[in-house]
Amino acid sequence: MARPKIALIGAGQIGGTLAHLAAMKELGDVVLFDIAEGIPEGKALDIAESGPAEGFDAKMKGTSDYADIAGADVCIVTAGVPRKPGMSRDDLLGINLKVMKSVGEGIKAHAPNAFVICITNPLDAMVWALQKFSDLPAEKVCGMAGVLDSARFRHFLSLEFGVSMRDVSAFVLGGHGDTMVPLARYSTVAGIPLPDLVKMGWTTQEKLDAIIQRTRDGGAEIVGLLKTGSAFYAPATSAIEMAEAYLKDQKRVLPCAAHVDSAFGLKNLYVGVPAVIGAGGIERVIDIKLNKDEQAMFDKSVDAVKGLVDACKEIDSSLA
Ligand code: APR
Repeated sequence: MARPKIALIGAGQIGGTLAHLAAMKELGDVVLFDIAEGIPEGKALDIAESGPAEGFDAKMKGTSDYADIAGADVCIVTAGVPRKPGMSRDDLLGINLKVMKSVGEGIKAHAPNAFVICITNPLDAMVWALQKFSDLPAEKVCGMAGVLDSARFRHFLSLEFGVSMRDVSAFVLGGHGDTMVPLARYSTVAGIPLPDLVKMGWTTQEKLDAIIQRTRDGGAEIVGLLKTGSAFYAPATSAIEMAEAYLKDQKRVLPCAAHVDSAFGLKNLYVGVPAVIGAGGIERVIDIKLNKDEQAMFDKSVDAVKGLVDACKEIDSSLA
C-alpha cells in the first residue's frame, strides 16, 4: 500500500517542525509548500538528509506549486504570519485571512479529499474561513488549539503536583485566545479531579487560578521570550497528534476547533470543543453539560470568536 501523503502548507517554524516529526514518526511522505523561494526545498532536503541517521522511510519534497499537493490525505496549514511581542492573535486577522483564501483555493483544486488541520491564527476564525474558501466538508476541516492549550495546562499542573505529565489530563474549551476556558472540573490526575486535589491539600485554589491564567497566556509567554516569532515545537507536536488520529483511525478524543452545528446550543461556528477524530475526520462533537460559571466563560469565548468571524465577513464580502 502506498504511504499516506501529508501536505504542509507553510514551511516556516511550525511547518519545518511538522515535517521533521511526520518523517520521524513515519506517518507518510511529506510535501512542504511555501511561497518563500527556496525555503520549502531547503527544509525538505535538510530533513531528508536526517533520514539515514534517524532511520526513517519517507519522501520529502519542497515546492511552491500547489499541483504538488495533489491527492494529499492530510493538509496541515501554518501559512501566514505569526505574532510579535505586544500583538494579540487577533491582530493577525487581516493578513492571514488573505492567506487562507489562497490556501483554501489551492486545497480545493488539488486535495479536496484531505483532512485539513489549520494552525494559523487567529485560529477559530481562520479555520472557519478556510472551510469556506476550500468548500471541503465541515467534518474534514478543523483547527489545532485545544490539544496545545491542554498540553500547556497539563505541563504546568505536573510541575505543581510533582507527577508525570502522562498522568495529568486536562480539558480546555472555547476559542484559542485570552477567553479560552480551562475546565478544572474535567481535568484530573489519574482520574482525580482538580477540585478534589485542592480539597486534599495538593495545591490551593489561588495556585490553581494562577496556573489557569498562565495557560491562557501560554502563547504570549513564549512570544515574549522568543521576541521574533511564536511557539512552534508544542504546536507542531499537537497537530501531529491530530493527524495521526485521522490517519490511523484512532478515534482519539481531543479538544479541537471543530464545526459545531447544534452541540452547546451553537449554530454553524468553529470553536474549541471535545471531539472524536478518526478516519471520518471529526466524527463526533462531545456535547458536555457545563455548569453556570463554565457556561458564562464559554459564552464569553464564543462571543469573541463570533466577533472575529464577523470581522472576516466585513473584510471579504464573499464570506458573508
Ligand atoms: N502561502 C503559503 N505560505 C505562506 C503564505 C501563503 N500565501 N504566506 C506566508 N506563508 C509562509 C511564510 O513564507 C512562512 O514561511 O508561512 C510561513 C509561516 O511561517 P513562520 O513565519 O515561521 O510562522 P510559524 O511560527 O510557523 O507560525 C505560523 O501558526 O501558530 C500560528 O500564529 C502562528 O499564524 C501563525 C502560524
